[in-house]
Amino acid sequence: MTSRRRVVVTRTGGPDVLRVDTDEAPEPAAGRLRVRVTAAGVARADILMRAGRYPGRVPTPPFTPGWDVTGVVDAVGPDVPDRWLGRRVVALTLTGGHASHASVPVADAVELPGTLQEHAAACLPLAYVTAHELLHHVARVRPGERVLVHGAAGSVGTALLDIGRLLGADMYGIAASRDHALVETYGAEPVERDRAALPRADVVLDMAGGATLRASWRSLLPGGRLVSYGFLSPEASPPRDLLRLRLWNALPGDRRAAFYRLSATARRRPDRVRAVLRDLVTQLGEGRLHPRIAARVPLDQPARAHRVADDPTARGKVLLVP
Ligand SMILES: NC(=O)c1ccc[n+]([C@@H]2O[C@H](COP(=O)([O-])OP(=O)(O)OC[C@H]3O[C@@H](n4cnc5c(N)ncnc54)[C@H](OP(=O)(O)O)[C@@H]3O)[C@@H](O)[C@H]2O)c1
Repeated sequence: MTSRRRVVVTRTGGPDVLRVDTDEAPEPAAGRLRVRVTAAGVARADILMRAGRYPGRVPTPPFTPGWDVTGVVDAVGPDVPDRWLGRRVVALTLTGGHASHASVPVADAVELPGTLQEHAAACLPLAYVTAHELLHHVARVRPGERVLVHGAAGSVGTALLDIGRLLGADMYGIAASRDHALVETYGAEPVERDRAALPRADVVLDMAGGATLRASWRSLLPGGRLVSYGFLSPEASPPRDLLRLRLWNALPGDRRAAFYRLSATARRRPDRVRAVLRDLVTQLGEGRLHPRIAARVPLDQPARAHRVADDPTARGKVLLVP
């Protein structure tokens, strides 16, 4: 019998609604691995889900949050080959990652090469896969294009700057002044967050919504693409913003607007998410990507982990470590 600890969102609310429960780790079902977790990322999405402000599907509490995990396979489903046992893997889990043991479909698990650090790999699934999808698949950024990134000091923002530089794009990162040095470490040009007009760009990646989304659309050069992927601004309204994107797309001209949601891709095209994650793992192993870790917090202190992840002075990924 293997004992499991897992973080539970008992009800929506502040960090204190989080509890750590102990029970027996279930044996994996067919097609699944049980992963002994060594690091699990805390994402903005986890905080929004806990607070009841996530603009998408959320399990009804009580549930265990957690989008990204790395760890070691310690049990396999009845139809899964034993050779998976002992392998180090990383996966996008959507929920259930904040635990000492997580259940992962074998089809979603990406093996880590021998020397790759598990903690660095735990930063990849949600933030880096989203950034990769936005740049490569949705906006189809070409070398030399001007790309404007809102929320550039955040997890997805820094991942966009990191991958955009590899693509050969001219990256511009919008952030508060205190984060301009961070934006520069990713080879991007910092842009002040509250400036009246945005620089013109071929591609704008917008996680704020509302008035920011309107400014993003106005800043597009001919042939430009706006991709919205969040509603962090307090005055953003998902239905209104999505309607705006549709209306803008119907206008004459060659500018385009789209919305992207990784969870929808993960449900419809898990093969693509895995292929992207595998590519990112390879690039991380080659030293081409630079995920940043803000803090490592014991799994038994989930409220502290959420507070650190919510602190604008702590930049980088907060990892829960069982
Ligand atoms: N659609 C998808 O598939 C997808 C995937 C991943 C994430 N997301 C969404 O993308 C957003 C960012 O995620 P993340 O993990 O990068 O979060 P994060 O690490 O918390 O970073 C958010 C960044 O945005 C800035 N910010 C916050 N409110 C802002 C506003 N109103 N205007 C401009 N900038 C603002 C923050 O700066 P300060 O801290 O200085 O305020 C911070 O730098 C979240 O809404 C998340 O749910 C969507």
